[in-house]
Amino acid sequence: MNLMQQFQRIYDSKPALRATAPGRVNLIGEHTDYNDGFVMPVAIQYAVTILAAPRDDGRIRLFSADFGQSTEFAAAGPIERDPRFPWSHYEKGVVSEFLKLGSAPRGADLLIHGNVPMASGLSSSAAVEVATAVALRAMNGFGIGDLDLIRLCQRAENEFVGMKCGIMDQFISCLGRSGHAMFLDCRSLEYRLIPFPSGRYSVVILNTRMKRELTGSEYNERRSQCEEGVRLLRPALPGIRALRDVPPGEFEKHAAALPELVARRCRHVVCENQRVLDFVQALPASDEARIGSLLLDSHASLRDLYEVSCPELDLMVELSMSVPGVVGARMTGAGFGGCAVAVVEKGREEALRSRVMEGYPKKTGIEPEVYFSSPSDGAKAEALE
Ligand code: GLA
Repeated sequence: MNLMQQFQRIYDSKPALRATAPGRVNLIGEHTDYNDGFVMPVAIQYAVTILAAPRDDGRIRLFSADFGQSTEFAAAGPIERDPRFPWSHYEKGVVSEFLKLGSAPRGADLLIHGNVPMASGLSSSAAVEVATAVALRAMNGFGIGDLDLIRLCQRAENEFVGMKCGIMDQFISCLGRSGHAMFLDCRSLEYRLIPFPSGRYSVVILNTRMKRELTGSEYNERRSQCEEGVRLLRPALPGIRALRDVPPGEFEKHAAALPELVARRCRHVVCENQRVLDFVQALPASDEARIGSLLLDSHASLRDLYEVSCPELDLMVELSMSVPGVVGARMTGAGFGGCAVAVVEKGREEALRSRVMEGYPKKTGIEPEVYFSSPSDGAKAEALE
């Protein structure tokens, strides 16, 4: 049964609107977004789709086709968490943020389906938030612009879900462009679309299938270690607001003022920001040696300094680099499991896939998944007739 048929079966009506929002893979710039830094993600072909129809009784009903569960609540609030349906917190968080802005949505029936692998570092949660927000915007005629919608989705995750994520995932899910990577300044929110050299390289995503628990304390703890670093550096560097303001050379002059662990965390961030700036030059120039070393340096830094990799991710990178034609690889997303990303010469994708499909289970006992995806478009909503 396709989604339209499912919608009709569940709600006994036809959907009026379809919204989609993609997941993402981050090429480089990891754990920099919440430090006001730089990132370079691409939107992927895996996405969340929402079918929606308005209702007249002020109720919002949600059906998750992936969990096979339904829940409903009053569109006017109060919006509450429901431990029986944790998947619904992303949609509810978005409704709750619209209400805070004084934009009360009308009632609606929503069917949600995603093929973005969940808890894998490919931003399935941001895709749900952005798809919900563009669906509600279209259905209610809300005048909110893309930037404010992106911030709203981030707040939904920060406040309703409790994950203190940065803005990268919602940003790329909303504004990604087919054939392009996005170079985003997470402070000014200015961005540049960088043509991905698709004639020469492919992006291959390698899923360790080690699930992460993102709202777990590790992510938020890294974030506060960075903030502590800024606090402790400020007496020596009074102008700084975030690690973004500290060039690597300056950082090393003052790193001794920091506890050893905080210094390592901060060193990752300040150097990773510089790597993004270098990558922005290297990618369009197809400077293979540079692309490769930046990706590998990023991985080593996430493994050794930021300590968010894991043996399975390290193995993915190692296996990838043993395949001729793989330019570079690194873990992607928050870490602690999830996916690695590889930039691969065109035509070498299958060689990488077979190496991983064979080598990874031998050492881990886990069947990995491998995805090919060209850079894709961001979110959209369309009326259905
Ligand atoms: C998660 C967060 C992002 C970002 C990455 C790490 O995906 O949602 O905001 O911090 O981790 O780069």
